[in-house]
Amino acid sequence: MRVGIFGSDDDLQVHAVAREVRALGFDDVLLRNDALDEGFPLTLVDGRVVYRGVDTSGFAGFYLRNIPAAYAPYLEADDGELVLPGDWHAKYERARQQSAFYVSWLVALKAAGARLVNPPQAASVLQYKPFQLDVLRRVGARVPRTLISNDPDAVRAFHAEVKDVVFKPVMGGALTQRLDEDVLPALHHVTKAPVIFQERIEGDDLRVMLAGDDVVSAVAIRTPEQHLDFRGDPSYRDGESAYEEVQLPDEVVRSCREAARGLGLRFAGIDIKRTRAGEWVFLELNSSPIYLDVELKLGHPISRGLAEVVVGRR
Ligand SMILES: Nc1ncnc2c1ncn2[C@@H]1O[C@H](COP(=O)(O)OP(=O)(O)OP(=O)(O)O)[C@@H](O)[C@H]1O
Ligand SMILES: [Mg+2]
Repeated sequence: MRVGIFGSDDDLQVHAVAREVRALGFDDVLLRNDALDEGFPLTLVDGRVVYRGVDTSGFAGFYLRNIPAAYAPYLEADDGELVLPGDWHAKYERARQQSAFYVSWLVALKAAGARLVNPPQAASVLQYKPFQLDVLRRVGARVPRTLISNDPDAVRAFHAEVKDVVFKPVMGGALTQRLDEDVLPALHHVTKAPVIFQERIEGDDLRVMLAGDDVVSAVAIRTPEQHLDFRGDPSYRDGESAYEEVQLPDEVVRSCREAARGLGLRFAGIDIKRTRAGEWVFLELNSSPIYLDVELKLGHPISRGLAEVVVGRR
């Protein structure tokens, strides 16, 4: 039986999962997410997608590491400014058509009953943090007090009440920052693009990896310096962070499971803050988390767990 892995040939995590798929007795086929850029033959014929001569309709399962989305094709100028090249519209339009083809293919596989980890709908639509927070609240998980708004007055009132407030984008893609005296005068910028404002939770940054219904790894991320968003720490970016194994209470495991299920995720990387007072506060669920550093440093069987979900053994 074959398993499709949709992602980049340069991605070590793609190859780690492929190895585990083979160890489970399946054949892996890398479905390169730059296939159309490379001009590989990719054909939808009478409802079946044939990738470089291989019909993908009978595969046992798929791991979707990364589906290309259409972004503005900007370049960075010498002065650091981001500029669009002269043919930006043709490039952007091409990326939009490619993305529509990839997503249609994957959604059609899902509709035909294939096992996709994670389904593209879950990964794209449910990646939105406001909806994630709703699902987390609904399953009874604690989340930070949160205001999502484009109204500067509402933000000022929230800040006056909660006091220690951070902010981050609705779609992700930027570091979390403090709402401090430098930022408060610039609140008029939010009127056209709402922002997430949240009570700042002090404590350890935890990352929980869920494969099917099982926690296959739970760690506290240790970086040498205290940063509000641990990804802002240069040692984290350079791969020098350390991880410490964490035991999760049953209640927290249950919330992880139910939230993932509520979002349609069969595999998830869940961000939780653990406070000194012993509270577990949920931040978000990532549908295609990067985890290889933890796996290599602590030996947690994350790729194996993921491969088992993909082939239907978990
Ligand atoms: N309310 C908060 N209190 C304290 N720290 C926070 C809070 N929200 C976010 N952070 C810090 O910022 C980090 C990133 O925030 P979060 O996980 O919510 O989004 P993200 O990873 O930026 O999202 P995406 O993966 O979509 O880019 C968290 O792991 C945590 O370290
Ligand atoms: Mg995160």
